Amino acid sequence: MQRLDKYLSEAGVESRRKIKDIIRAGRVCVNGTVVTIPEQKLEESTAVVTLDGKEMLRGSRMIVLMMNKPAGCVTAASDAKEKTVMEYLPKEYKRLMPIGRLDKETEGLLLFTNDGYLAHRLLSPKRGIEKTYYAEHEGTVTQEDIDRFADGCILKDGTKCLPAVLEKLGEGKCLVRVREGKYHQVRRMMASLHKPVRYLRRISEGTLELKDLPLGMTRELTKEEIQQLESVNFDEKFF
Ligand code: URA
Repeated sequence: MQRLDKYLSEAGVESRRKIKDIIRAGRVCVNGTVVTIPEQKLEESTAVVTLDGKEMLRGSRMIVLMMNKPAGCVTAASDAKEKTVMEYLPKEYKRLMPIGRLDKETEGLLLFTNDGYLAHRLLSPKRGIEKTYYAEHEGTVTQEDIDRFADGCILKDGTKCLPAVLEKLGEGKCLVRVREGKYHQVRRMMASLHKPVRYLRRISEGTLELKDLPLGMTRELTKEEIQQLESVNFDEKFF
């Protein structure tokens, strides 16, 4: 048996003092029941402990996996109708969760982890990790388009985007670098220029690049890569 606050500390959730506050605030569940007493004992080998709904795995090795997602599958843990990204995970990684999402028809770099706390931090909009997309689209990128992205383009529904980088690669081909993750962001940004996207692939996220990972395949990040990912531009206090 182990104390709940110690369990969370071993799961990588910040300092013991903050953990006590988090537990007292009712954000932690053990086997589906909210527990507000930091000293409460639990059976660590079988208990399912969640923080804000995300499972916390005590003392387990933090895993971050990179996938080269193929088109034609949705980013979801399960789906009644569609094929999901989980079907491309090797057996031993089935408990990992995707960090963020790519559209069904978008290919490319998608991360997974077993660490709810890391996922939560990486997804914070304040963190603003740069993501680069390769796009094939209708029409030709002009200097005016590049300037509109740099100023923060306005989508057809009036949503204002953060400044982004648009780089022309050739006729109907470009790179788009964004620091946010709105729904269908790149497709909608390109559509606002009247240049609908025909093909989209995420090629990098922060310091990580897809490089030559084959489509549908995964690889674990090294410790150094995880450290770099965690340190990029992280000045937000989560707790
Ligand atoms: N922008 C999109 O339009 N789709 C994605 O999957 C990711 C970014």
